[in-house]
Amino acid sequence: MDEGYIRLNNGMEMPLVGLGVFRMKGYECTKNVISAVESGYRLIDTAAVYGNERAVGDAVRWCGLPREQLFVTTKLWYTNCSYHNAKRALEKSLKNLGLDYVDLYLIHEPYGWLKGTWRALEECVREGKVRAIGLSNFCERDIENITRGAEIMPAVDQIELHPLYKREKLLAYLNERGITPEAWAPFGAGKSGILDHPVIARVAERRGCTVAQAVLAWLRAKGAVAIPKSSNPERMAENLASLSVELTDEDIRNIDCLDLGDSLFPWDKGIRRPLRKAIGFLHYII
Ligand SMILES: NC(=O)c1ccc[n+]([C@@H]2O[C@H](COP(=O)([O-])OP(=O)(O)OC[C@H]3O[C@@H](n4cnc5c(N)ncnc54)[C@H](OP(=O)(O)O)[C@@H]3O)[C@@H](O)[C@H]2O)c1
Repeated sequence: MDEGYIRLNNGMEMPLVGLGVFRMKGYECTKNVISAVESGYRLIDTAAVYGNERAVGDAVRWCGLPREQLFVTTKLWYTNCSYHNAKRALEKSLKNLGLDYVDLYLIHEPYGWLKGTWRALEECVREGKVRAIGLSNFCERDIENITRGAEIMPAVDQIELHPLYKREKLLAYLNERGITPEAWAPFGAGKSGILDHPVIARVAERRGCTVAQAVLAWLRAKGAVAIPKSSNPERMAENLASLSVELTDEDIRNIDCLDLGDSLFPWDKGIRRPLRKAIGFLHYII
């Protein structure tokens, strides 16, 4: 297997570092994706709810690389989580992207009628519209529920994962089930202090790399794909170059100690979770 790729449980190869495009819009997004592809990125992570599938699709067509050399991920928003809505939502995403297929289609959040949704996604794989299917923000219990009776196992679980939230138990579970973890917000969205952390800065200094590269190398050591977002060509290149950074066991242990054991993003905490469950259910029955 090519260096810089990880093999998924369905045999496909997935790049270990990709570009996240959350909050990028229109021409700016297209320009950033083309710039990322020019600097060597092959994985682009978007979602229906980001509102930029069209811009990503333009970049995929205009970047000059054959489609099969790129790995395009998009996600199904939870208000479309039912058998029929999932199929319609994928058609809409493909139309927005202007593509015949996506490489990875993820259920964005664990709400709605998930059994029916998964069955629809399995059919989309068989119809050739999606090469791999997976999950996002699913914990152990959600994964147990959705995989009971499933014909295709999820290939990926895209989760919040960074040095302040290392999720050891969930990673062990994913490893046991053969599901590849994919880290969203690897830098804590850039405002969590991760990129200024003195412990990571010391590791970076010892390895002769930047703090961002040390974080991405730590994620790679955990077996995770990472999708840092950057709109800056130099930082994009810096992030991709993390693939040549090797940490020692001691470096990894030092970064492991920074875990705070909880999410940095409160949008899915407290009352919000049952609220989203209820909204997902309402969308399913109406
Ligand atoms: N599945 C989900 O629920 C979910 C949720 C959130 C995000 N995501 C995905 O994960 C991707 C990444 O997460 P994120 O966008 O929230 O945050 P992130 O990747 O953790 O951080 C992005 C921030 O870090 C900065 N940055 C990037 N590379 C840097 C470097 N080498 N040095 C210094 N600063 C750097 C960026 O600034 P510049 O742009 O100026 O470089 C930006 O402000 C998203 O774009 C999206 O695709 C998924």
